[in-house]
Amino acid sequence: MKLTKTLVAVALSISVASATDVMTKSMNIMQQGIEQVQFGFINNNEQIIREGLKQISKGNAMFSDEAVIKKYLPDNKKHMVNVASNASKRIAADATIIELNLDDKAYTKAAEGYADMVNACSRCHGIIRSW
Ligand code: HEC
Repeated sequence: MKLTKTLVAVALSISVASATDVMTKSMNIMQQGIEQVQFGFINNNEQIIREGLKQISKGNAMFSDEAVIKKYLPDNKKHMVNVASNASKRIAADATIIELNLDDKAYTKAAEGYADMVNACSRCHGIIRSW
């Protein structure tokens, strides 16, 4: 009985922690992904770029809902939720653009898509951090 209660308490605290931590999780996944993509471009390794893009798309999907994004914007920046969520949409679009360019072996264009993606990260961070 005691053990059951403890287990329930542990399970509850885990689910609460993961609910509040969706942003941290999403950002960590995207961070790993963008490092992989950069590594792939610098080392001319298409496979690593593609794996990194998958990570980024996964992380970005976790932090793309306007209501979720708004929660993390400071009070004096809530009105900029559209701009912030456009940054997330831009990341999703860039992932597709990069993949299509890789399919076409248009590596310079693919690399431009990567640069645009990094700018989209900064666009949202800039709002949040009042850069
Ligand atoms: C729609 C908004 C938004 C976008 C787009 C975005 N981020 Fe973030 N990011 C945040 C918020 C909110 C924080 C937490 C506040 C802070 O660190 O200033 C954050 C923090 C981070 C952190 C620090 C995490 C931590 O635990 O402190 C990393 C790393 C990060 N982002 C990576 C990325 C990468 C890489 C991209 C682009 C692929 C990206 N982010 C795009 C909103 C965004």
